[in-house]
Amino acid sequence: MKILATGGAGYIGSHTCAALLEKDYDVVAVDNLYNSSEEAIRRVRQITGKELRFYNADVCDAKQLDDVFEAEPGIDAVMHFAGYKAVGESVAKPLEYYSNNLNSTMILADVMRKHGCKNIIFSSSATVYGENVVNPLTEEMPKGRCSNPYGWTKWMIEQILTDLHTSDPEWNVVLLRYFNPIGAHPSGLIGEDPKGIPNNLLPYVAQVAVGKLQELGVFGDDYDTPDGTGVRDYVHVMDLAYGHVAALKRIRENCGVDIYNLGTGRGSSVLEVVRSFEKACGKSIPYSIRPRRPGDIDANWCDPSKAERELGWKAEYNLDDMCRDAWNWQSRNPDGYGK
Ligand SMILES: NC(=O)c1ccc[n+]([C@@H]2O[C@H](COP(=O)([O-])OP(=O)(O)OC[C@H]3O[C@@H](n4cnc5c(N)ncnc54)[C@H](O)[C@@H]3O)[C@@H](O)[C@H]2O)c1
Repeated sequence: MKILATGGAGYIGSHTCAALLEKDYDVVAVDNLYNSSEEAIRRVRQITGKELRFYNADVCDAKQLDDVFEAEPGIDAVMHFAGYKAVGESVAKPLEYYSNNLNSTMILADVMRKHGCKNIIFSSSATVYGENVVNPLTEEMPKGRCSNPYGWTKWMIEQILTDLHTSDPEWNVVLLRYFNPIGAHPSGLIGEDPKGIPNNLLPYVAQVAVGKLQELGVFGDDYDTPDGTGVRDYVHVMDLAYGHVAALKRIRENCGVDIYNLGTGRGSSVLEVVRSFEKACGKSIPYSIRPRRPGDIDANWCDPSKAERELGWKAEYNLDDMCRDAWNWQSRNPDGYGK
């Protein structure tokens, strides 16, 4: 199968391109490098020893995207990773988030339809479950109210793609709800390279460990969890990448619309992550407790059994593996792809 990955130079996209190439798929990546570097594409080629074709194009630009489909006839399915993803920034810049995330998806689907490709795997998020959480989260639970524009874009795109299938049942749509992807490729050649101050826990901890940041802020230690800090379902980015490869099975089976949680089914607290990272890097991570952040919930983790049953996919890596690989990447590349 020939797969197009939008956002293919990004964190999850680059790891998924590596997983696809490893399984001998023909892979084409598109990215406008807004939040990534072409160096990630070169490193994926280095890891796999395979050809990965790359187009620097904006998915919101129908002409640029059309040119990619013209240059790459016979694309069987698209994995749509491209989008803006910073929760806090989305509160400050709602128009930019709605515009980029929604327009890219609608323009992509329109161009795909024009070229007769009606198979899409979308990067959704646990955030669509909203604030009313009953753990473990299952795909059958109703979606909730999101606490920020980023979450709403995922919520809305799930609906848009579902409506597209209703209008034309030839479309196959797989909505993958990621929990908290962390870690890096075991080679240490690719990993998460956030621009500026990281928004997410793991890259922040990793930058404290290499001395780029002074201390970690832990937002809230009075949650209803065993140690009071927030609990999330962390999943290794390579497990997530293989989840996408597994999802292609449902595309081949003409699944219609399918939703899968991709997580381990196990929650870890912020302090557990810190301890696991300390073990990986052999240093202590200074941290201080700060007030809770608005919109944060106590705990969430998923029931990943549907993905196991229907895709034959199950997360293999544990938290220590995730921290080991994140540290391997960060310590070999203290400045990410920059140097
Ligand atoms: N990382 C997470 O914690 C997480 C969790 C749930 C869902 N997701 C979703 O998974 C997807 C991938 O996330 P990631 O962590 O790899 O983020 P990322 O920022 O590393 O990757 C997204 C990529 O999309 C590109 N991009 C953005 N807008 C574009 C456009 N208009 N045209 C072309 N390229 C564009 C960026 O340059 C970037 O390389 C995103 O849709 C994100 O919302 C991520």
